[in-house]
Amino acid sequence: MESATPVIVAIDGPSGTGKSSTSKAVAAQLGLSYLDTGAQYRAITWWMVNNGIDTDDPAAIAAAAGKPEIVSGTDPQGPTITVDGVDVAGPIRTQEVTSKVSAVSAVPEVRARITELQRSIAASAAHGIVVEGRDIGTTVLPDAHLKIFLTASPEARAARRSGELKGVDVHSTREALIKRDAADSSRKTSPLAKADDAVEVDTTELTLAQVIECVVTLVEEKRAGK
Ligand code: DC
Repeated sequence: MESATPVIVAIDGPSGTGKSSTSKAVAAQLGLSYLDTGAQYRAITWWMVNNGIDTDDPAAIAAAAGKPEIVSGTDPQGPTITVDGVDVAGPIRTQEVTSKVSAVSAVPEVRARITELQRSIAASAAHGIVVEGRDIGTTVLPDAHLKIFLTASPEARAARRSGELKGVDVHSTREALIKRDAADSSRKTSPLAKADDAVEVDTTELTLAQVIECVVTLVEEKRAGK
């Protein structure tokens, strides 16, 4: 591809693989926009909880899926997320939202709504974008110029997550992660999956700096047409 074309990079994988830190840093280094699609699913989940929608009732979720207005700010130095104009960057990271997000994001009407939003954000990124999630390479942006699938052992992922959530023990984090990944991987509509043409990077033995360098190199090779 020519370097003037806005480059679209899809980074997928389960939680705790360093997806967010890697995606943000790669976007910042290369002057690209950044979109955290998990934050959008968390935002719609937060709205459902706040508006008394039963998150165990897919029909109720489907009926309300079109109501909240979700806006993502795509500057990798300071990404933002609002729902109906309210800054929800903090509230979407609570245990309550985390425990309900897999059920909400499995509802096809929710996925259709959020996928459309993601495609329009990617299409309007003038200098290109790094989009991180679970189904970006397979479903949302199947024509992305570069697809990365990050993996890591369950132990490494749990250790990283419990480091982020200070005070939460590794064992319960590991159990919760495995449960959420199983739900995200087994749902019918666009599950967590590696695209056939994605480059898999196992981050278990790598530092964050090494993962970032690896992805930056892959993007630069693509841009150079290698
Ligand atoms: O990346 P995260 O942990 O913030 O994502 C939260 C949840 O959102 C995750 O458990 C599954 C869902 N998700 C999804 O279904 N599709 C995406 N592209 C991104 C996230």
